[in-house]
Amino acid sequence: MKDLRNFKGEKMLHRADDINSSFWAYDSENLSKDRQLCLLDNVQFIYELALAQLELQSLGAKFEMTNGLREFSLLGAIDEEKLLKRLAYFKYVRGNPTDYFKIIQNNRTKSVNQYLTHWIYPYKGKFHPQMVRALLNIIGLEPGETVLDPFIGSGTTAVEAELLGVNCIGFDISPLCVLQSRVKTESIDVLPQIIEWKEEIQKAMSLPLFNSAGKTLDEVISSIPGEKEQNFYKMAKMVAISDNARRGREFNNAFLKNLELMFSSVSDYAKIVQKLNLKLGLIDIKTGDSRALPLENESIDGIITSPPYSIALDYVSNDAHALEELGYDLSEIREEFVGVRGKGEKRIDLYNQDIKKSLEEMHRVLKPHRYAAIIIGNAMYLGKEVKTTEFIIDYCEKIGFRLVKNIDKIIFGLYNIMQKENILIFQKI
Ligand SMILES: C[S@@+](CC[C@H](N)C(=O)[O-])C[C@H]1O[C@@H](n2cnc3c(N)ncnc32)[C@H](O)[C@@H]1O
Repeated sequence: MKDLRNFKGEKMLHRADDINSSFWAYDSENLSKDRQLCLLDNVQFIYELALAQLELQSLGAKFEMTNGLREFSLLGAIDEEKLLKRLAYFKYVRGNPTDYFKIIQNNRTKSVNQYLTHWIYPYKGKFHPQMVRALLNIIGLEPGETVLDPFIGSGTTAVEAELLGVNCIGFDISPLCVLQSRVKTESIDVLPQIIEWKEEIQKAMSLPLFNSAGKTLDEVISSIPGEKEQNFYKMAKMVAISDNARRGREFNNAFLKNLELMFSSVSDYAKIVQKLNLKLGLIDIKTGDSRALPLENESIDGIITSPPYSIALDYVSNDAHALEELGYDLSEIREEFVGVRGKGEKRIDLYNQDIKKSLEEMHRVLKPHRYAAIIIGNAMYLGKEVKTTEFIIDYCEKIGFRLVKNIDKIIFGLYNIMQKENILIFQKI
């Protein structure tokens, strides 16, 4: 099978390495290795530079940006080991490669962000994992502490917390999200057991349809005793269903190809954990409603989350094929989702009510003085801009949060369409 690791991301990094010495030669400061901090080559946006500086501050480093903007000069003493272990936006600290730089080399896709298990399932509206790693640093979460994401979606917060040794509690109303978040973070616990089932699964795939002599794919999957192992194969099936529905790929081929990629990604994960001697965070992902969290008051050390952007994306229709396959009734499930209930103006009222309840819950479960990072954007509905960002800031300040940072995250997407989101960091007062 073709090894996908050498795709765009790594190639770009190597090319940048090759041209590094001449390209950055204009940097008059010509930093010596022992003072130097160097940004990763994929850092392109102003918000990323802002987060890079905030994570350095949070990790106790004093620094100065140099003329080249990509290299920072360290001022005074630093905890070098901590910086190497935790930083998200940096490639080198004093000439040594960071853990993150090593982690992102393990990428089986063409997208720089979809390293390790992040790529599993094409979920729309995923967080940028590097941003989440930086936010975990910025809001001061130490290994062993707990971050909550009450809208866990595709599990980005969970994977990044796990890698940093931070525990993560995640909820989502969508069983598909719970399944993918669990598979991305839990398969590493049972990799040998997962591999034991490979042959039988492949055998089931080669059976002609309606052949009663052998077991069908579904029968084999449901006969797997361990939940984590069974979830892995259920997810592989979901990825293939999505490939088939969205890209017209033949199901069997898509299934077998994705299965190989999933094996490789989980084994990459296991290898890098060993190589970097990572102590993984504990992960607990459940189906649940952000408006009524089954958590004790003041039990959480930090929150990183992104609620649905008003009515921007209909998560139920978007994943209809997979949710139906998992046996859910779409009209029933729809009633629990924030942002898709009701029609016309009523939909916005219901969204606002649901978001208020979710914010109150976040405030209730967070420990005093700790931080909640909320990533949100405004959406267009019925020809008008729905000002969700302003609404969230106002309401959070009413219920006892103080806005400490509001970072514009402006990016240009396909066809030069501007996408503006905000990274809001609140402190519970
Ligand atoms: C913007 S997405 C989160 C994406 C996530 N940050 C990621 O990296 O994949 C919002 C999520 O909220 C979930 N959601 C909608 N209503 C919910 C509710 N009442 N309780 C919990 N989750 C809900 C949706 O299923 C969706 O996965």
